[in-house]
Amino acid sequence: MKLGPVVRASGRALSTAAGRQQRRALAAETADQDQVTRKNFADVQRERKEQAKNSVLISCPSKINEKKFLKHLSRHGEVANHFFFDSHGVHALVEFVNTESIISLLSATKVPDNEDTCVLPFKSRFIKVKSQELDLHHVKCTPQTSVSINQLLKKLSGAKNIVDQAHIILDELQLTEESIRVRYLVSSLVSDIATAYFPEATVHLYGSSVNSFGKMGCDLDLFLNLDSLKDVSGKPASSFVTEYWMRQVSSGRVAQQKVLSVIGECIESFGPGCTEVHKILSARCPLVRFYHQSAGLHCDLTADNEIALRTSELLYIFGNIDSRVRPLVFTLRCWARVHGITSSVSGHWITNFSLTTMILFFLQKRNSPVIPTLDQLKNLAGKNDKRIIEDNDCTFVSDLSKIKPLENTEPLDTLLIEFMEFYGTFDFSKNCIDIRKGVEKNKPDSSPLYIQNPFEQSLNISKNVNKCQLERFVHLVQEGSWTLQKQASQPLEKGKEHWGLASILFPTDSDGLFRSKKRLDANRLGSILDSLKVSNNNRKTTTQKQ
Ligand code: GTP
Ligand code: MG
Repeated sequence: MKLGPVVRASGRALSTAAGRQQRRALAAETADQDQVTRKNFADVQRERKEQAKNSVLISCPSKINEKKFLKHLSRHGEVANHFFFDSHGVHALVEFVNTESIISLLSATKVPDNEDTCVLPFKSRFIKVKSQELDLHHVKCTPQTSVSINQLLKKLSGAKNIVDQAHIILDELQLTEESIRVRYLVSSLVSDIATAYFPEATVHLYGSSVNSFGKMGCDLDLFLNLDSLKDVSGKPASSFVTEYWMRQVSSGRVAQQKVLSVIGECIESFGPGCTEVHKILSARCPLVRFYHQSAGLHCDLTADNEIALRTSELLYIFGNIDSRVRPLVFTLRCWARVHGITSSVSGHWITNFSLTTMILFFLQKRNSPVIPTLDQLKNLAGKNDKRIIEDNDCTFVSDLSKIKPLENTEPLDTLLIEFMEFYGTFDFSKNCIDIRKGVEKNKPDSSPLYIQNPFEQSLNISKNVNKCQLERFVHLVQEGSWTLQKQASQPLEKGKEHWGLASILFPTDSDGLFRSKKRLDANRLGSILDSLKVSNNNRKTTTQKQ
């Protein structure tokens, strides 16, 4: 994730192709020092939320005079950043230096007055600009989706070596600065809706949007924190105790369902740009799912999901303590997606979250480990890092500077091959994966793949995976390892289209599904049908609280 210093004022190209190339060159040369941020998770969250609070989303005509547009906005205060993007029409994200500018802009914004329709009385920071200027031009829109696999393969063919290829994958697929800003702004707009009802509520991003493994186009996971409501406990000032007269329900789950139901209703009725709102309240982890059309984001809103936020911070730490972790994870996630090991619909296959945990476990298991275990991070924790959530110990160090780099210096290509070797011979029938201790343990039950939840330790995060999907994974890592080793032992064939990583990202016959859409392997078809039954509109809820 590009979380470095923000380009101010011009804001036009926060992440240019030239910038990408420069960063990549640097990454290949100084293998260990860049592409990771040294900022603590909480600081990043705070900064991003501030930025989002000072930002507005503006629907624009496809042709606009950018200079005059900015001049118009700057009447309300200094613009810190802006960019245009296309999602069901051209939109601009504009960040002001001060929040007062937003108040000023909104107070000068009129309510639409269409004779045939009636507006619902909810004003938000999503506004519309109509231009009366004549000299209009198409504005340059920043992309909000990643390159296609074919474009990626083409880019890989021009790389210097496999390590360079892994960095290309990272650069092409990771969230851009603009995409990160759009995500925080959507969260901030949802927060405006939620706090209109529940002023103490806060909305947080979790999952891959913030855990440093987010790919362009990944969903936006949000959770509504209502804990502060519970903290409002009036102290007895005299012999009288005052208590709010509140409705009471039988459990926290019922309370969550009621709150989410109301918020879902508000998003559907009043949330500008929000469509396809589904309240999935009977799921194990109740959620509201919707599509923010103007941001082009699929969003899942849950309530009181603090462990997931803590998990996101843990993954963020792992992603930022060693510069090899993110290119490795992005490469393997891309490989897994191409071969249908992971999927965008839920079912019996391995999720991105499980795959990432498997990669982290492998990195902890090297003879000389690449990353520490969760227990080691817990040992580094200070007083303020202590966190017990729902009786689970979620304590670990938050300050990245307290985590000293480990001694392992293996190059990325070696790690890739070794990952495939490791899982190609892993005894899944006996062992479970545990990133808390960083050692295999006996499996507590007969699930084909058992990955212990790092915080809720009696749970298996890959309970959904069936035997057939695990076997496909093992087969594909064995095949991948063989292909990569063959590549590594041969001199680089310049001019050959698919070499290095491209040779494992190019779907092979054994995938059945991707190479030839006509030939759908029977096992996979069975799994797809099974999973469609399982998912039944509950894409994540089957795996969420495991
Ligand atoms: P994407 O596929 O890019 O969306 O990755 P993701 O990490 O965001 O995964 P997803 O949207 O499925 O889930 C969001 C977050 O919820 C994850 O990052 C985890 O923190 C948490 N999560 C997902 N699945 C599970 C699970 O099975 N068990 C537990 N405990 N947490 C989960
Ligand atoms: Mg997600």
